[in-house]
Amino acid sequence: MTTPKDTNPELAMSGADPAAAREFFPPTPGLPPVAPRMVQRHGKEQARRERAASWCSPASSEPIHAGTIRHTNPFGDAGPNPAFVRAPVPGSDAGPTRLPAPEFAHVPAASPKDTVGGYHAARIPIDAGTSLYATGEQAGPLLRNGRSVACWAADVPGYTDTNEGLYQSHPWVVGVRADGSAFGILADTTHCCEIDLRDTIVFRALGPAFSVVVIERDHPQQVVEALAELTGTIEMPPKWALGFQQSRWSYDPAARVLEVARNFREHRLPCDVFWIDIDYMDGFRVFSFDADKFPDPPALGAQMNDLGFRVVWMLDPGIKADPEYPLFRDCVEGNHAIRAADGEPFRGAVWPGLCVFPDFMRAETRTWWADRVVKFAEDSAFDGIWVDMNEPAVFSPGGTTTMRFDARHDADEDLGGPGSHERYHNLYGMQMARATQAGVRAAHPDRRPFVLTRSNFLGGHRHAATWTGDNVSDWDHLRWTIPMILNLGLSGQPFAGCDIGGFMGDATPELFARWMGIGAMLPFARAHSAKGTKDHEPWSFGEKTLNTSRRALERRMRLMPYFYTLFHEAATVGTPVCRPLFFADPANPALRDADASFLLGADLLVRASVDEAGSPCPDPMPSGAWRPFVLEDPDADLPVLRARAGSIIPMGPACQHVADGPDELTLLITPDEHGNATGRLFEDAGDGPEWTDGERRITEFRLAAEGSGHRLTLASTGWIWPADRGVRVLVLTDASTTPTDRGALRLDDPAGAILPA
Ligand code: NOJ
Repeated sequence: MTTPKDTNPELAMSGADPAAAREFFPPTPGLPPVAPRMVQRHGKEQARRERAASWCSPASSEPIHAGTIRHTNPFGDAGPNPAFVRAPVPGSDAGPTRLPAPEFAHVPAASPKDTVGGYHAARIPIDAGTSLYATGEQAGPLLRNGRSVACWAADVPGYTDTNEGLYQSHPWVVGVRADGSAFGILADTTHCCEIDLRDTIVFRALGPAFSVVVIERDHPQQVVEALAELTGTIEMPPKWALGFQQSRWSYDPAARVLEVARNFREHRLPCDVFWIDIDYMDGFRVFSFDADKFPDPPALGAQMNDLGFRVVWMLDPGIKADPEYPLFRDCVEGNHAIRAADGEPFRGAVWPGLCVFPDFMRAETRTWWADRVVKFAEDSAFDGIWVDMNEPAVFSPGGTTTMRFDARHDADEDLGGPGSHERYHNLYGMQMARATQAGVRAAHPDRRPFVLTRSNFLGGHRHAATWTGDNVSDWDHLRWTIPMILNLGLSGQPFAGCDIGGFMGDATPELFARWMGIGAMLPFARAHSAKGTKDHEPWSFGEKTLNTSRRALERRMRLMPYFYTLFHEAATVGTPVCRPLFFADPANPALRDADASFLLGADLLVRASVDEAGSPCPDPMPSGAWRPFVLEDPDADLPVLRARAGSIIPMGPACQHVADGPDELTLLITPDEHGNATGRLFEDAGDGPEWTDGERRITEFRLAAEGSGHRLTLASTGWIWPADRGVRVLVLTDASTTPTDRGALRLDDPAGAILPA
């Protein structure tokens, strides 16, 4: 695509007049450019002033107690933060922690023109040997020591590991000490914030003074669970949202959606969800349809549902500034639009050309939006909603950026009251996801809402799942996938995935096959590819890649009961679904930078090959016995799976979608050296709000050595265990990677059953 020199290609695609777009980004002396470049621009000056600034540590002589402690900044406080569902409380009397008190500093602005008024910082000294993680969504390795990142939501298509910040903001760091004990530090600010891990831990925020919350625990998993006490957990998703999902920018018209969907069934490729990207809209007007391409969305939905697919539709925040468009008039006349400094609705270019943007900081606007989502449920018959571009991304002539800092949000008092975009920018995606979730819930009160968001803020996992944005079909992005999902999990977002196969560029058959193998083991498993790339469906890459893809997806379906149980744990305790290897042995320094393997729950270890040569996974193994096993034809492109000795992993049949096939339960039992094993299974209707009360069953399985044999028993709460339910038992030992089939057992007798030899 040829574009004028200073024109952003996305702006050109939007059809907006660059001159009109420029009008909204006039160079204003004294107004900082948008972060994260702002962080860079100010960086040198900040560093100079920082050296001169005197750090003060008001609490350094006081002992800090174990638990969760809020260290109040002596310079003031940043105000309400929607990350929290529960206020952090002073620690208990469990004893002093080893984490020194944070030191707070205020560096004043260099000149009165500097509208952000300088910055505040908190420095937390750490011991040698401490490994640092989390910091939200960042490309690159799992271990974050030595890095500096910006919390500033940005649209970064084709990002690399040198970008300062991506689509989401999580001002939060997890530290694991040499002895395996761990802590978490949360900077209580919504402002643009730098997390500098180059030497120790420093948070620098361009905004008011902020407090720091410190969580001290014995194990990193407990730190993440404690974060969930403060910021909440995900809601239990509908089971179909854990199935594999197929997307493309865009499958259109409607007939193409059905064609690709039928091909999935014909090729026996398990899949639960199809995604409809922006081209269904009429000129990219949200909540509208292109009548030629999508003449009857509910009929499409019904046909897709008959084939066993759910359908997720995209919504963007930008509302086309078109006086003929009722939603635009409604947004402006109803005072729902964010305003520019002059009081007029802020206008910026996105796909439809110049747009206005709902002010999701207002409850009234969220309700207005949610009402539109309810209406959209009738119009589209959606099963879920995908919210995109909600950093918010705004195309400017020089590149994709965001709103001007001086745009005004009429925020409600519970979010901090009216304020600048500079203050509320990082919350925009979260509050849009919140409004959308409310609409989806209201549209389908008997179903669990499913929303996917590109932008979010710490705590926003309560409202939506996420994916890692516009990655690239290359080996670097495949390599970064596992660490990115792990660090998001360590930042409180367990329901995350990536564009399998890579979004930008063309995947090769080898890359796609490998990516399917890894992606099928992630919490959110969706393939997606950009406009203009070649076809990225599994069959487009030839027979070998098609077969690998089928095996990968069948694996996911077989493991669905285990995945679902892990999601229940995430939804109740906040434990990540994918966990770094060091969770199995936090004191082992060799596990601290394992980037190509991860734990799925506590019992399954996934070891991937992430380079083009197909080299075996380089990561060391945690202590204990982890037995490799195969459930399907051997395939070198799939990650190696290993089960923890002492575990029982519940599995199901390799159905085409989660509601398909018989309710068959298989237990993969890997006895430990004493012949014992335990495992857990969560079951419910797979949708509906009843998962919190009696409409569910939690079953604990136990294998115990008895004489020369083994006895398998179960204890369940909730739904009564059906007397006639047969359970197939597979036993995995060192003898073979193929588990031995020990037949079907009935377990309704409280005494359980002896395993057949
Ligand atoms: C940007 C998103 O990241 C991508 O996934 C989507 O396909 C395009 N917007 C078009 O909607």
